[in-house]
Amino acid sequence: MFGRVKPLDAILATAEKKSLHRSLGPVQLTLLGVGAIIGTGIFVLTAAAAQKAGPGMMWSFVIAGFVCAVAALCYSELASMVPVSGSAYTYSYAVVGELLAWMVGWALILEYAVAASAVSVGWSGYFMGLLKSLTGFELPQALAAGPTWSLSGVDFSSGIINVPAVVVALAVTLLLMRGTKESATFNAILVAIKVAALTMFIALALPAMDGEHFAPFAPNGWFGPAGSSGMGIVGAASSIFFAYVGFDAVSTAAEETRNPQRNVPIGLIGSLALCTVFYLLVAGGAIGAIGAQPTALGVQPGSAEFTAQCAALAAKGETPLVCSNEALAHVLRSINYTRAGDLIGLAANLALPSVILMMLYGQTRIFFVMARDGLLPEKLATIHPKWKTPHVVTLMTGVFVAIAAALLPVGQLADISNSGTLFAFFMVSVAVMILRLRDPQRVRPFRTPLVWIVAPIAALGCVILFFNLPMEAMLVLPIWGAIGLVFYFAYGYRQSHVGRGLVEVHEEDPDAPPQPVPPIN
Ligand code: ALA
Repeated sequence: MFGRVKPLDAILATAEKKSLHRSLGPVQLTLLGVGAIIGTGIFVLTAAAAQKAGPGMMWSFVIAGFVCAVAALCYSELASMVPVSGSAYTYSYAVVGELLAWMVGWALILEYAVAASAVSVGWSGYFMGLLKSLTGFELPQALAAGPTWSLSGVDFSSGIINVPAVVVALAVTLLLMRGTKESATFNAILVAIKVAALTMFIALALPAMDGEHFAPFAPNGWFGPAGSSGMGIVGAASSIFFAYVGFDAVSTAAEETRNPQRNVPIGLIGSLALCTVFYLLVAGGAIGAIGAQPTALGVQPGSAEFTAQCAALAAKGETPLVCSNEALAHVLRSINYTRAGDLIGLAANLALPSVILMMLYGQTRIFFVMARDGLLPEKLATIHPKWKTPHVVTLMTGVFVAIAAALLPVGQLADISNSGTLFAFFMVSVAVMILRLRDPQRVRPFRTPLVWIVAPIAALGCVILFFNLPMEAMLVLPIWGAIGLVFYFAYGYRQSHVGRGLVEVHEEDPDAPPQPVPPIN
């Protein structure tokens, strides 16, 4: 299993030559993290978390934030040791070998591409809410949402295709194909918009708090009623984990950080802590203002039964928090801040596309590196002569993202994305320990503090969250993994450059595409 390992020294030699200027300090790192983290999770999935846990979702935010923090500390050690693109895929190639690296890369498709789909669907919910509030126009339901999927089949009563989600996914894909340079200033403005929107929400929702809305606090308990999957406070933590994904932006910037041993953990823990505080205040405000009780106990958000329950409530003129596609805007409108609700919608519509861009970019970069390693057809890594971008792989990824966004609800997409992310983070936590044993002398610009406590907790946390995802999302990982194995043995195993005795690192190739989303500096 550990047979084909890409020599760490070959990777590092190139990284050293590339050696970026160390310019980032703790404040910029924290901002970078907050910019990458805040997105569909808090703006949209708060509703799904409420359906699973009720007001107890406040604990879910804490649990998910904690697991991310310990996983982030492990991620940073590898990111600072192997500071090249490809993220967890590249780290695994150097540590646990080609087969597992391929599996991690394959799982990262779930993390990045499916997350891009989830954020596109989240954007669509806010877009339609804003459109309706400002113009009164509503898209027919069939064109505004995808169908509902479960182990018992596909149900088209919720919708057929999510057209706005497809449009935004393809628009961002085109932007990325043309080669966008999202400037540091532009990124800072988007972070400011997101933070201002959440701050406004907290300022308006908290004073409207009614303590009675917090009871019962945990209607579905910690793990949900017997026989359900992915419910209760821990089930909600597994879903809301999505709200914290993106912090790897800080880990991967380790190489450009001044005094990484001190500043990387400050940036990571700082941005995660800041987001956790924001999320708790937002969740508390939403619960206090309009309540967060599930439609019925043990009913999975996004399921056909749930859709029917929400439709029945809507027919009576009621929209509880759990049924809203634009949770935060809905809360403000419900307490008569209509214009403020529109402003939240506008902020989400302006800021979420940059999260889609980051996710899509991350995905194309991983595909690009895998193609250059020979594990995917090299044609995929073709660079456009004028745009200087890997346009083929970007278009393919964008079409995949748009199809998933068209056909699946946001909660299911986020859960599927989480299953891949949790697997990748688990592998990274294990890889850190293996490398400490196998290569203890190697220079580590950042060392995970208390690694023998932190890494096992991170690995265990990922396993616990994984097994509290809904059954459908849990099943996706082994099925997706099996498809990945078939691909590997049919193609990658024979074509692999390392397998054919070629060891090269492509970071420096003259035609390597420019990085369209530069770190803030
Ligand atoms: N954390 C990002 C979001 O919530 C992925 O959209």
